[in-house]
Amino acid sequence: MSDQTALSFASRSAPADGVVVVFAEEGPKLTPSAQDLDKKSKGLLSRAAEITGFKGKKDSIVDLLAPQGLKSVRLVLAGTDKTASYGPEDWLNLGGSIRGLLTGKEGPTAHVFLETAHGEIAAADVANFALGALLRGYKFKKYKTKARKKNGAASETNDRTLKKIIIHCADPKAAAQAFVASRAIADGVTLARDLVNEPANVLGPAEFAARAKQLTKLGVQVEVLGEKALQKLGMNALLAVGQGSDKPSHVAVMQWRGGGPKGGEPIVFVGKGVTFDTGGISLKPAAGMEDMKGDMAGAACVVGLMQALADRKAKVNAVGIIGLVENMPSGRAQRPGDVVTAMSGQTIEVLNTDAEGRMVLADCLWYAQERFKPKALINLATLTGAVMVALGKEHAGLFTNSDELAERLTAAGNVTGERLWRLPLGPKYDKMIESKVADIKNTGGKWGGSISAAQFLQRFVKEGTPWAHLDIAGTAMSSVDSEINRSWGSGFGVRLLDRLVSDHYERR
Ligand code: BES
Ligand code: MN
Ligand code: ZN
Repeated sequence: MSDQTALSFASRSAPADGVVVVFAEEGPKLTPSAQDLDKKSKGLLSRAAEITGFKGKKDSIVDLLAPQGLKSVRLVLAGTDKTASYGPEDWLNLGGSIRGLLTGKEGPTAHVFLETAHGEIAAADVANFALGALLRGYKFKKYKTKARKKNGAASETNDRTLKKIIIHCADPKAAAQAFVASRAIADGVTLARDLVNEPANVLGPAEFAARAKQLTKLGVQVEVLGEKALQKLGMNALLAVGQGSDKPSHVAVMQWRGGGPKGGEPIVFVGKGVTFDTGGISLKPAAGMEDMKGDMAGAACVVGLMQALADRKAKVNAVGIIGLVENMPSGRAQRPGDVVTAMSGQTIEVLNTDAEGRMVLADCLWYAQERFKPKALINLATLTGAVMVALGKEHAGLFTNSDELAERLTAAGNVTGERLWRLPLGPKYDKMIESKVADIKNTGGKWGGSISAAQFLQRFVKEGTPWAHLDIAGTAMSSVDSEINRSWGSGFGVRLLDRLVSDHYERR
């Protein structure tokens, strides 16, 4: 659920009741608004800072309730270290951590006086702060029946939800303008998180496709292909994965033509959308299997991204393609040893039915190239457990045939904090997936599992297509708490790829 708290911008002089947040840099060097409140309270703030040993360090605060001489019920002085060296991610994280301090207990309105101790904050950074605050406010509470009832029946006085955050800044108009795009991005991340968090009994391939279809409202052209259409196209690798499930497989194609005819060939995003991955006949162990409801995080990112691009009317031609299947064991399921012919014509020996994501992507990647001749092709997938062994949960794995794409994606990752780490591809790794029976086998043995998976995908990438594969198994779900995310599904990739698009693929 998106943060229900309304966010707006106001001038520094606008009146403030409720909760008030002001800042101090290393020292502590109080910002003008902090100094002002210190005076109004006859030195309360600086005295409290001294008593607690507050030095303006990041993540340290002075927290005062019912401060004498002030209208506010709570006054927070938050440390920032030195904002002179802040980049976009620092402002984003600051917004997140401040949002985390606001519980609503002290009233429905919070005022944040966003300032530095020297000079102004650029509108883009104010917008980043606000984006961080929105993302931190996300909670998936759809299935918490008690909380919902309480809120529904709550009286004005004991409603402990925060209703309004007002960010006071030097140029509220410019901030609000910069925030228009950030809002679209936040909504895209929210959509992605919602999809990842949703359980698989509620969100199967058909329901997921229906959610994608809703982008039509924003001017995205959405086609949903059912099993008949997929059979006709020859997407047998994708269909083989879904054949064990009672829920029919789908592929959704989302086209956003914001670049117009002059925008040229589109950039195409492909997402793995396994709405639940039991492993199939190569069944996964029971412990932790529930996490496999998130095996559609790649597809969720693509839908969230397409929504964000359309919502902010990005001047780009972009296409999203998601392969939606459920991987189940049954009397109709594919077996280890089966051979299927992919849409490209290549035959695949299925050695492990739990290596299903690459089979889904193989057909989607091929379809993407046949139909759209993409100027860049980027896929996202919770593809391998091995990528977590290699990179933990801080970086997603990046595999690409293009140094330029590697550079662009890595840079976008560093700006947004959705970090990528490039891992190798090469002919020796490709040998790992040679099959004795078919053209290719779907597992590559014990070592370098993320790499052999990427090699498999590359077999379905045509010579000359700039392509990148992001293995997001460690970053998209079962997330570690961060300043801007407390949700199981992180929505990883939406901000990263939105940034990639705005930096390199949009017409000015
Ligand atoms: N969806 C999993 C990968 C995964 C594991 C994602 C844990 C998130 C958390 C994928 O389909 C899978 O099962 N991969 C296998 C591949 C193996 C059978 C070659 C794996 O990683 O073990
Ligand atoms: Mn699997
Ligand atoms: Zn999977």
